[in-house]
Amino acid sequence: MAKVTVVGAGFVGATVAQYVCGQDIADVVVVDVVEGLPQGKGLDLFEASPLLGNDRKIFGTQDYADTKNSQIVVITAGIARKPGMSRDDLLKTNANIVQSVAKETHKHSPDAIFVVVTNPLDVMAYLAKQTTGLPANKVVGMAGVLDSARFQSFIAEELKMSAEDIKCMVMGGHGDLMVPLPRYSSVNGVPLTELMSTDKIEALSQRTRDGGAEIVALLKTGSAFYAPGASAALMVESILRDKRRLLPCSVLAEGQYGIKDIYIGLPVILGKNGVEKIVELKLTAEESAQLKKSAASIKENVEAMNKLLVTA
Ligand code: LAC
Repeated sequence: MAKVTVVGAGFVGATVAQYVCGQDIADVVVVDVVEGLPQGKGLDLFEASPLLGNDRKIFGTQDYADTKNSQIVVITAGIARKPGMSRDDLLKTNANIVQSVAKETHKHSPDAIFVVVTNPLDVMAYLAKQTTGLPANKVVGMAGVLDSARFQSFIAEELKMSAEDIKCMVMGGHGDLMVPLPRYSSVNGVPLTELMSTDKIEALSQRTRDGGAEIVALLKTGSAFYAPGASAALMVESILRDKRRLLPCSVLAEGQYGIKDIYIGLPVILGKNGVEKIVELKLTAEESAQLKKSAASIKENVEAMNKLLVTA
């Protein structure tokens, strides 16, 4: 039986747990420092299993020993954005949390693949890799799947076509500089650029870049969790079932796209070993420049984080 640990029993963590169990992908252990919170949500989800027609086991705990021998660890722990905050404002608090969580979970599940969800995403994924010392294929960040899903939804709504047929690629960091790629987006193979004007595509690309903030502005006390939870569950499924889906994920760039030594959203094949391969697409000069700009911003944040952690 596959076992997945989800660290963080907030809205995102609980939603990941809900989808992973509800879709019969794996048993789940939810960990959180808050007494009772993961236990309560875990029990509630367990009680939903007869209604969903599966026998998945799920429970919550404060004890990392309960997470031992997980195949996948999903890290969602951390504070979320409030209105007006950027993802980078979260840097220091969440760096400390992710560092300690990665250390504890890795100790109990040395073979696990890590899926990082905590923001600022690309920097936290990098930190989880540094902290665990795992090879880069075993630490991957969730962002591009979510950003692409947002783009897909907006396109479906605009074209009045099924979202099921719409495939999108959003590369780059999970921030204001992410790079939606209309040239690599299609409706069942029909290039998006054939179906929509350039202006419209640009407007929907911008709404995608602002997608997280749009929801924060509406919720006021937190950030998105349904689509982020579903995105992380989809990555977990691709790994555990060795589906080898081609998905944009935050991964360690080692020279691909002219980028090195940072985590950034690139198209990858996600299978039983985690990142099976980084796929290198041909980019136009403009797309490539956008990606480099996004990479430069991530690099600055990694440097800022390294300074914060040294002085902490
Ligand atoms: C978002 C946050 C979770 O994009 O980063 O909604």
